[in-house]
Amino acid sequence: MTAMTRRHLLAAISGATLAGTAGASAQTVEKTLIGAARSKNLTYGAAMATWQTDRDATLRRTFDRQCGVVVPEWEMKWGTIEATRGTRNYAGADRVVSFGASHGLACRGHAAIWYRNLPKWVEPALKVEGVKVMEAHIQDLMAHYKGKIKSWDIVNEAIEPKDGLQDSLRDSPFLRQLGPDYIARAFTIAAEADPAIQPFYNEYGLYHNDSIDQARRTAVLALLQKLKQQGAPIYGLGIQGHLNIGRPFDPSVFASFLRDVAGLGLKILITELDIDDRSLTQTISERDRLVANMATAFLTTALSERAVEGVITWGLSDKYSWLNTSTYQKRSDGTMNRCLPYDENFQIKPFWYSLYYAFRNAPPR
Ligand code: XIL
Repeated sequence: MTAMTRRHLLAAISGATLAGTAGASAQTVEKTLIGAARSKNLTYGAAMATWQTDRDATLRRTFDRQCGVVVPEWEMKWGTIEATRGTRNYAGADRVVSFGASHGLACRGHAAIWYRNLPKWVEPALKVEGVKVMEAHIQDLMAHYKGKIKSWDIVNEAIEPKDGLQDSLRDSPFLRQLGPDYIARAFTIAAEADPAIQPFYNEYGLYHNDSIDQARRTAVLALLQKLKQQGAPIYGLGIQGHLNIGRPFDPSVFASFLRDVAGLGLKILITELDIDDRSLTQTISERDRLVANMATAFLTTALSERAVEGVITWGLSDKYSWLNTSTYQKRSDGTMNRCLPYDENFQIKPFWYSLYYAFRNAPPR
């Protein structure tokens, strides 16, 4: 039996999960997020960490049935791979890749160059030795995953208008020690190390209709234009999609940003979708309804743009979301943030249907 046939069969059997809301047709009609996405030549996947999949068979099964892509939530970051200089440890990241392979999931690489989760030794080393420190990291990463990972976040979150620097570049160890060209340089190093990869620039805060996100949209667009002009080998823009329900979303503003990015000849991927409901004080079901409404507005707009290739959510279940596991971000009323398509007991929520129908209703690629 092929992996695909097995997946379809499992999806049909798993009708039990959906039967409560979808009725008898769930027994025969495939209803999975990846199935809906693939029907339009799109992709769907989610982030995870091995501490989650190691202990949770339901999570593993949900990945197996619902996803086509897996992304390491932290195992592939520089701070995890090389906390101590010269001791590169790929054990955790490799386990994510092999979890993906054994469940028929492609793994996305996240993230080669990021100012956070950066080992303390990096900035002093950059100061003394320059670009070769960044080069060594990217080259080793690309060599290690050659043929295994195609879609890569090469540079993550390099823009921060609030820092007040030239071109709204973020005040990071890379900018301080290497200057503004480190971004183009990172792309060149990565593509030379493995010409088969799809190198992405990944960024957050590009969706809300307020002055904060507007400033970041303008700066990111200018950065992408510059990278294209310089001939940097960039494949696409990763739009994280950490939405906040308390902030405004205007489909036409977001659509025009997507059009501008696509106009540069870049592909787009929604790379880290979740919807933070901290500002909502209503009942759980009302919160779920409002979250799903925002998801539908966001996803319908995103998928209407033909350059958008798919959606990754930053986790599957609220139980493991970074918004519920990191203490500084928790809701103050003690309830779970209802930010992802599955609740803490792996029941599908209205958000799941927002994803499902956004895929089903998307124009085909
Ligand atoms: C977060 C993870 O979810 C957390 O577990 C970790 O402690 C910090 O990083 N933007 C990104 C992701 O690009 O890597 C971040 O992931 C969330 C924000």
